[in-house]
Amino acid sequence: MATNGKKDHWSAAKYSSAASFVPKLTSTVLSYLDVQRQDRVLDIGCGDGQLTTQIAQAASSGQVLGLDASQSFIATAQEKHTSGNCTYKLQDCTKLAECSEAIDGSWDKVFSNAALHWILRSPETRLDVFRDAYKALTPGGKLIFEMGGKGNVAEIQAGFTAALIHAGLSVDEARAANPWFFPSVDWMTQTLSDVGFEVEKCEYEYRPTKLNPDTDEKTGGLEGWLRLMGAQFLDAVEESKRESVLREVCDVLETVVTREEDGSKWIGYVRLRAVARRK
Ligand SMILES: C[S@@+](CC[C@H](N)C(=O)[O-])C[C@H]1O[C@@H](n2cnc3c(N)ncnc32)[C@H](O)[C@@H]1O
Repeated sequence: MATNGKKDHWSAAKYSSAASFVPKLTSTVLSYLDVQRQDRVLDIGCGDGQLTTQIAQAASSGQVLGLDASQSFIATAQEKHTSGNCTYKLQDCTKLAECSEAIDGSWDKVFSNAALHWILRSPETRLDVFRDAYKALTPGGKLIFEMGGKGNVAEIQAGFTAALIHAGLSVDEARAANPWFFPSVDWMTQTLSDVGFEVEKCEYEYRPTKLNPDTDEKTGGLEGWLRLMGAQFLDAVEESKRESVLREVCDVLETVVTREEDGSKWIGYVRLRAVARRK
């Protein structure tokens, strides 16, 4: 169980098979982060720490703290990606206020990659996440992040929703199983401004992304991606129905995501990136 009360589906091995591109396709957001040697950086939803440790190497005289709700990811990060200036803590980031070392106003930068669409899922705690990120920063400090934006992996959301309805869920139940919140640039700009940030940048990028090759262990390719990232959709039905739901989504998406010229599979990632300054 992860500290956010959800089943902990994450593991560094599965992440590497199904989505090793996530911490790698980060050159733009890292250029916005623009790490300085003395920076103190808080990484929200740091996962297994691959990217966090890269940031810590650049912030060689600073400090980096990675927070994540997955026990499995934090254990891997602590085992494989620590250094003198980089530490990790198990933390549900919808409740950042409970983490005194995070919200002490001492951080030059609050960073997040590919995690806020999970963390912002619940409307009840959305604003708290931004208010707490604001509190975490020094005056003039910046929140810099990349996450899924409106329309992200739309084919997958539609495929799962339909398959869950076919498996007996109501439309509302199927929608509620969606683990993500993908906001528009307008929503994000307004929300950051309402919290008090000065929004320096808020942008979309449509970035079709090539999936990793299929593996025998069913942890790569489309199926591996769906099993890992879509685990909460699958949890919405009883165990005996999960494989048939997964099979339906794979069948429906097969021709949608496959390129005829080489059989490679691509899904429609839409990224939302923002840079917002604490006044
Ligand atoms: C796709 S991974 C991204 C990890 C990492 N930032 C990277 O770029 O590789 C999404 C991460 O969000 C984390 N996450 C989801 N909900 C969370 C929550 N409520 N609090 C903290 N972390 C959360 C997951 O545990 C997972 O590590």
